[in-house]
Amino acid sequence: MADEKKMVGDVYFPAPEVIANAHIKDYEKVHAEALADLPGFWGKIATENFEWYQPWETVLDESNAPFYKWFVGAKVNIIHNALDRHMRTAVRNKAALLFEGEKGDTRVYTYQQLNYEVSKFASVLRSLGVQKGDRVTIYMGRIPELMIAMLACAKIGAMHSVVYGGFSTEALHGRIEDSASKVLVTADGAWLRGSIVPLKQIANEALERAGTIQSVVTVKRTGQEVEMVSGRDHWYHDLMALPIADPKAPTEVMDAEDPLYILYTSGTTGKPKAILHTHGGYMVGTATTLKWVFDIKADDIWWCAADPGWVTGHSYIVYAPLILGATSFMYEGAPTHPYPDRWWSMVAKYGITILYTAPTAIRGLMRFGESWPNRHDLSSLRLLGSVGEPINPEAWKWYHRVIGKEKCPIMDTWWQTETGHFMITPLPCVPLKPGSGTRGFPGVDLDVVDEDGEPVAANEEGFLVIKNPWPGMLRTILGDPDRYVQQYWTRFQEQGWYLPGDSAKKDEDGYIWVIGRIDDVIKVSGYRLGTAEIESALVSHEAVAEAACIGVPDELKGNIIKAYCILRQGFEGSEKLEMALRDHVGHEMGPIAKPATIDFVDSLPKTRSGKIMRRVLKAQALGQELGDLSTLAD
Ligand code: WTA
Repeated sequence: MADEKKMVGDVYFPAPEVIANAHIKDYEKVHAEALADLPGFWGKIATENFEWYQPWETVLDESNAPFYKWFVGAKVNIIHNALDRHMRTAVRNKAALLFEGEKGDTRVYTYQQLNYEVSKFASVLRSLGVQKGDRVTIYMGRIPELMIAMLACAKIGAMHSVVYGGFSTEALHGRIEDSASKVLVTADGAWLRGSIVPLKQIANEALERAGTIQSVVTVKRTGQEVEMVSGRDHWYHDLMALPIADPKAPTEVMDAEDPLYILYTSGTTGKPKAILHTHGGYMVGTATTLKWVFDIKADDIWWCAADPGWVTGHSYIVYAPLILGATSFMYEGAPTHPYPDRWWSMVAKYGITILYTAPTAIRGLMRFGESWPNRHDLSSLRLLGSVGEPINPEAWKWYHRVIGKEKCPIMDTWWQTETGHFMITPLPCVPLKPGSGTRGFPGVDLDVVDEDGEPVAANEEGFLVIKNPWPGMLRTILGDPDRYVQQYWTRFQEQGWYLPGDSAKKDEDGYIWVIGRIDDVIKVSGYRLGTAEIESALVSHEAVAEAACIGVPDELKGNIIKAYCILRQGFEGSEKLEMALRDHVGHEMGPIAKPATIDFVDSLPKTRSGKIMRRVLKAQALGQELGDLSTLAD
């Protein structure tokens, strides 16, 4: 078997032909060069692979750290590199996007066609009063118009704020309100598992609570009757048919450090925060990481199966593939609809060469057995990828053997909404160990350290830290720079290190094994949720006085949510109430945030200052030692 030849112990060595064909053939050399001269390394890449309206004065400005700046003084627009420049080359006629809806409808957009739609929608947004620096909220399913809307915002210098289509009323309302968006782009609905997710209806409810939105643009996708508010609401197809929808709309000239988008993500406490990314560094970082890690070539068909509503989709469905002039595939619906071989049938149908997905999806499809993938010709695949949570070696091996037929290296990429692009990741030339993201992307200096910042011994758990800046890094939290400093740069302030909030181990070979979050973030099926938001959804129900949530390990989903509720006087815990509360969270936050179980309790463990000690709840739920209880109130 091919596998046995390539494996030594538990290490998978890349086949010589994989290395020979890869963009980067010697990781050690490139990494050492990058570390020796970081600005020189990124400056060279930025010069050789991208077009700038005006070059930079400084590659990296560290004078106001941790408010780092990249490509300072340069003028650029990410859209110039993702679309405009391709209009002058043969890429113009190439497929940018292959799309398949859940019901089987298909569409193809060449680069020329995509640019045409984006330009028209950009001028539609301008005509609705959207200007450079404004925020536009986008709330849609996985359809090409989602991508078009995002790109149109970037083209005119407005920040998009995409809210995942699986979120619901309150989650959407909170994000609209915080961003003070003027315009909402949505769809009547989205197809999922054969049913309609009523996006416009949810948006209407959210808008009853939010005041900043002046116009709503709705894409007709599912076709059911929806309520349109006159003066505020427009159909996408109506606006796109007007003369104002100008296919020659100019691309706004931006500073490299001007904001590109915000994306809300959950952190340690309180409300989700608006992570801010910029045009220049993010463009260079996302495109370079995709090119090197997934070895993108002109004839690849790249499928990032994430949702564009999360950072994985932003970086690796929307921006990086277009900048590289690659062909992407996008699928609207559920992997198991109508049967558990939907994904595999599409791999064969479109000749997908690279598939990038999450461990939870792999485990979910693994459940149905090998016969489903084995029915299809998967021989077009040459590389596989994983993201979102640690991949358990069992799922890794199944993915490698059953899907990759033992010839596709698996790129396990660790990164975050905040980092913008891959940070810990193999390249195709790097030997793999199932369950480890291997080492830092060239130029990323990282370590695993203890409380004092000292490196821990091999295979001991510690804090993951990143020691130097990278081009796609978040620049701030919109509207809350103090929280940016506090959250990421205070724990190891003296050393000037970035704290991702994950714990990890490093083995004898320097390979990193990410363990999980050290804060109140729960990863459910790879989706990042904050306990605070779920708790506040619970407390917004009339029966609940106080709530606490924790994540407990789950074989399929990685983690599931366990909630504890103290009820208000006059309410009693029952199965019926548990159901009602779960539905309430589903309505406010979205189905993914529904607690798997709810315990009704009389008190919650708290510190003397009143902070809920979720750590104690978690230890209790898992039957572990309760640890240091000295700060517990009683
Ligand atoms: C986790 C997703 C282990 C991690 C791109 C991180 C991972 C959080 C991996 C960020 C991986 C992501 N192995 N853990 N390959 N990738 N994580 O912001 O805990 O949604 O901090 O970005 O996901 O989640 P986010």
